[in-house]
Amino acid sequence: MSTEKTLILVKPDGVARGLVGDVISRIESKGYSIDAVRMLKADRSLLEKHYAEHVGKAFYEPLVEFMMSGPIVAIVASGNRVIEGFRSLAGVTDPTLAAPGTIRGDLARDQGTKVVQNIVHGSDSPESAVREIEIFFPK
Ligand code: RTP
Ligand code: MG
Repeated sequence: MSTEKTLILVKPDGVARGLVGDVISRIESKGYSIDAVRMLKADRSLLEKHYAEHVGKAFYEPLVEFMMSGPIVAIVASGNRVIEGFRSLAGVTDPTLAAPGTIRGDLARDQGTKVVQNIVHGSDSPESAVREIEIFFPK
């Protein structure tokens, strides 16, 4: 059985606040492996691909603007059930409701911005993970 992989992003709020190390530390402490790390400034065409499922939603444009607002860090992590495991580490989307102990619950709050800023992204299915890893780490 091949090891599962997921695409994790530290979003511009997480990078600006110096939380890259904390996020990576939580992934490693849980027991997953870090396979690749890349810092980049995402452009609109890359984000259009990454967020294709959200095109047309009210938060889509603010989300793209936010994700272009500063550097991000893309990470490939691996391990058995890492996709759901990282989603569990991240906590739910709304940082006000994310449980204490999670990345979003511990490190983020609702700032009243147009789109919720919540430190990290994690792939939500094996299909998304393959697609997203190819976007951020093209062969
Ligand atoms: P992510 O993709 O970043 O891991 O987050 P998620 O699965 O928990 O949430 P998703 O529904 O995929 O939404 C992607 C990102 O868009 C922003 N968002 N804002 N109602 C809102 O204001 C709203 N809904 C979504 C968040 O930054 C969310 O992480
Ligand atoms: Mg999502």
